[in-house]
Amino acid sequence: MRVVVKLGGSLITDKGKAFFARDDIIRAAAQAIRESAQLGAEIILIHGGGSFGHVAAKKEIDRFGKLTAASVPPVSRAMMVLNNHVMEALLDENLKAVSFPPHSFCLYSCSKDSFSCSFDSLLIAFNLKIIPVTFGDIVFGEEACEPAIISGDDLALVLAKKVNAERVVFATNVDGVYRELEDASSLIPHIEFSEIPKLLEQIKITGGGVTDVTKGLPGKLTKIYRYLSSHDKRPEVAIINGMSKETLKMALSGSKVKGTFIT
Ligand code: IPE
Repeated sequence: MRVVVKLGGSLITDKGKAFFARDDIIRAAAQAIRESAQLGAEIILIHGGGSFGHVAAKKEIDRFGKLTAASVPPVSRAMMVLNNHVMEALLDENLKAVSFPPHSFCLYSCSKDSFSCSFDSLLIAFNLKIIPVTFGDIVFGEEACEPAIISGDDLALVLAKKVNAERVVFATNVDGVYRELEDASSLIPHIEFSEIPKLLEQIKITGGGVTDVTKGLPGKLTKIYRYLSSHDKRPEVAIINGMSKETLKMALSGSKVKGTFIT
């Protein structure tokens, strides 16, 4: 099974502590990836920025009012440090994995408000059964544009389309999407893809009673809808709790697990 997995920044870092990687969780995720790869999963791995990228980017914005070209070294540095935690864990599991930092192959266009990335090398690695690893990052702007942050969610959805993935797994630090904030019994196990606009409308009306806690559900759902509605071989999208190694392993292996599935 072809699967794109994003390990969210709130899962692999402690968002309350600047530059703090949760190595126990990263290592357990690496094991889950190895075990599912042994069961036949073909994986592209993405990770978020958590208390590395977001903290470094915020520092720049607080200081200069915006991201500038001079923000690229410190923010990309923060992401490379976090990426190294992930890479070490994968390589220690004897997985064949290679890192593709987006600041070296993506550009931001401010006139189009979009990113363009050269995925050729990454896709060659994937075809060679090597796990490509990429992540949310700061990328230069083209021409007169300032740099911008490309999110791991965007990369996951774009890559899922490129390789015709059967599943996209968003591994977060919560069980999935909840109807009511802080009500564990209100987990939504299934969302019909075509119902996303209606659900987003409800969120607007209720002022955000529905949340996935980690990142703002509306943003994630809007992206899922925007990227995948024009795709005829649409992957199923699973939002799961990556704190459980077993859940992550089973999700990567194509099983139905606890979480929210969008089909
Ligand atoms: C953010 O990536 C990257 C930077 C801030 C440089 P994501 O948007 O994918 O990160 P998380 O998952 O929200 O932490």
